[in-house]
Amino acid sequence: MSATSGGIADAVAHAHVIVVTGAGGVGKTTTAAAIGLAAARAGRRTLVLTIDPARRLAQALGLEALGDTPTRLALDVGPAGGTGRVAGELWAMMLDMQTTFDRLVERHASGPEAAAAITSNRIYRTLSSTLSGTQEYMAMERLHELHEEGGWDLLVVDTPPTRSALDFLDAPRRMTTFLEGRLLSLLLRPGLAAGRGIGRVVGAGATAFMRVAGKVTGMELLEDLAEFFRGFEGMYDGFKRRAEQVLALLSRPESRFVVVTSPEPLPLREARFLLDRLEQEGLHAAGVVVNRIRPELPRDPSDAALERAVAALAPAGRPAGAEPDAAGDADGHAAEDAAVAGALRLLGDVRRVAARQRRDVAAALPARQGRAVVEVPLLGGDVHDLEGLGAIARRLTGGA
Ligand SMILES: Nc1ncnc2c1ncn2[C@@H]1O[C@H](COP(=O)(O)OP(=O)(O)O)[C@@H](O)[C@H]1O
Ligand SMILES: [Mg+2]
Repeated sequence: MSATSGGIADAVAHAHVIVVTGAGGVGKTTTAAAIGLAAARAGRRTLVLTIDPARRLAQALGLEALGDTPTRLALDVGPAGGTGRVAGELWAMMLDMQTTFDRLVERHASGPEAAAAITSNRIYRTLSSTLSGTQEYMAMERLHELHEEGGWDLLVVDTPPTRSALDFLDAPRRMTTFLEGRLLSLLLRPGLAAGRGIGRVVGAGATAFMRVAGKVTGMELLEDLAEFFRGFEGMYDGFKRRAEQVLALLSRPESRFVVVTSPEPLPLREARFLLDRLEQEGLHAAGVVVNRIRPELPRDPSDAALERAVAALAPAGRPAGAEPDAAGDADGHAAEDAAVAGALRLLGDVRRVAARQRRDVAAALPARQGRAVVEVPLLGGDVHDLEGLGAIARRLTGGA
């Protein structure tokens, strides 16, 4: 049995980790929350680690004031008195990047003082929140912590709104490459090690960055920088091992990836790349969610019949849907006909869009054995409460 054969419903029921990924704005956070809800309703103790819930979703989840600690959500698990079903639990938390990074430093520093020297360092405080890939890496790091703490049946991880959905796969490696300091520490260390101080490095005009940094805030900044790299020097190995552990956790068959996309060509292409990449990395895809797709409308009446009806109702010269002016309103029927023609035309448009979206999906994601593609329709209004999430959850798991 291939690792992907179970699909999303199987992942909701059996996986230990579900990573929800995809292009920006396609519905990752919403999908992660819906998956969490589905799993909790299926009786599992579930934690959703979210990154950037839309305000109203955060409100609905009670996440507004939340930070780094899991909070249990009030979850309607059925009528009082029960149906004999085991009640699951839904917990949620928002990633606090800085706190996670600080803990990582504390874990790997040689002692509390060394850790404090780094975490209070200004370079660290700036870099740790702005470095590209940091958020992705910290999400994975936090996931690993929660996994080690134990007690969770399922950990659902939302991924950050990255430039590219592929970024988070590279993040652990990129992170360690940076921390190994290939670039900067090589420039700094020789001078420091020889006790010649950073002045020499500046004098040598080591890099444009150094020169700019030196100009902008002077020696203080450079001292911070030196201290930053001194502090990290002993921790590269720990970080590297940690990144390897995170990748190992993600590679387990109990860890599954759900790729979310909208039915537009660009996100679809990104979904395709992502699936290929997961496969290359030996990671397990549970399936693809095509979110906000137009529902398929009945093919009756046929397109031709629809066009005939529109033409009959709104003869040329009187555009359908145009507001009849007050003077010409004597004929109430004509106005009504135009409105009906407009509605029928809209129906034709929606049907065409729905068909095009399905063609695009089929072209971008050709059927492959074991790859589940689940459609989630565009719902009216935002998805910001348990009811809306429940509707998506049922779609995802194939429930009624
Ligand atoms: N199926 C859907 N129907 C209607 N609105 C949706 C649907 N899925 C997501 N949304 C809305 O789209 C917006 C973006 O979704 P979100 O999950 O935050 O995307 P991402 O996390 O990928 O950036 C949110 O306002 C959300 O409520
Ligand atoms: Mg999001």
